[in-house]
Amino acid sequence: MKILVVGGAGYIGSHFVLAASKKGNEITVFDDLSSGFKSNLNDNISFYKGSTLSKKELDSVMLSDNFDVAVHLAAFKAAGESMLNPGKYATNNIIGGLNLIESCVKNNIKNIIFSSSAAVYGTPRYTPIDEDHPLLPINYYGYSKLTIEQNLKWFSKLKGIRYASLRYFNAAGYDSNCKKFQVESDPQNLIPLVMEVALEKRDHLEVFGDDYATPDGTGIRDYIHVTDLAEGHLASIDYIINNNENLEINLGTGEGFSVLDIIKKTQIISNKKINYVVSDRRSGDPDIVLSSSKKAKQLIGWSPTRSDLDNIIKSTWATYNYNMKANKL
Ligand code: UD1
Repeated sequence: MKILVVGGAGYIGSHFVLAASKKGNEITVFDDLSSGFKSNLNDNISFYKGSTLSKKELDSVMLSDNFDVAVHLAAFKAAGESMLNPGKYATNNIIGGLNLIESCVKNNIKNIIFSSSAAVYGTPRYTPIDEDHPLLPINYYGYSKLTIEQNLKWFSKLKGIRYASLRYFNAAGYDSNCKKFQVESDPQNLIPLVMEVALEKRDHLEVFGDDYATPDGTGIRDYIHVTDLAEGHLASIDYIINNNENLEINLGTGEGFSVLDIIKKTQIISNKKINYVVSDRRSGDPDIVLSSSKKAKQLIGWSPTRSDLDNIIKSTWATYNYNMKANKL
């Protein structure tokens, strides 16, 4: 299959590209390199530098081949930043996403896989969260993802595209066999920050609150290995093409780990002390976010196989060490 991967040089994108090319697909990556790295891609991958804000650049890459599917992973993802700078997220995530949908329609790419987020649900009304949970995002990032999901639905009705909206829970880990992935600069998420403390790039971690309604008082999240996510994308492509159906599914494990679980596991695996201080809660952070992955299992036959905490932390630690040694951190 010929797959156009928009945002394919980023963290999730480059893992998808690796998994998809291993299965014999022909991959073209389109990325503006604002947060991705060309070095994340093997030499056999065609690469176009371009932005979803340029319809001309989108058209040009789409005209370069007859793509069966476009996978859209080019978006900003810091929920906190989106509340301070919604315009940045409106431009990149919403306008960029709409440009991509329109260009797919214009260039006859019938299938779109969209990288959505558990943030579309907002504060969990119940847990685990299934796909029938109300869609009430509490940050602009989640709203931007929901807006693209809703437009995919409309464009499917009006223009006949097929799509899968994949609601990721907390993407984590790195491919264990390929340590060349460059880690994100200026990370905002828990596990990368813990790694930076372990490597003494950061003095300490701030634990955002220890008075949540969880056994140890810190927030519990559903960490899903990025290669499991990549496999979920491949299974979703098969599903929408073979069944001629759209898909809206969660990709998570259903199992949760607290902030202190992550710290403890990293201490064991790295043999380093993780200094932390407990600070105030971060606004908008729920106690527990867990996914129901029943629908993904039923419809696309997907279930995670690499998302145990040991593997997530070990693979992340290996990649951070590689980056440290290569002076990329
Ligand atoms: C958020 C989004 C999620 C998105 C993800 C990607 C929401 C509700 N969730 O996840 O949809 O896919 O970002 O960026 O919008 N923590 C600390 N100290 C830190 C950082 C985090 O204690 O320095 C804690 C948080 O309070 C939370 C857990 O660690 O309990 C995970 O946080 P984080 O990695 O930022 O992800 P989410 O906020 O869960």
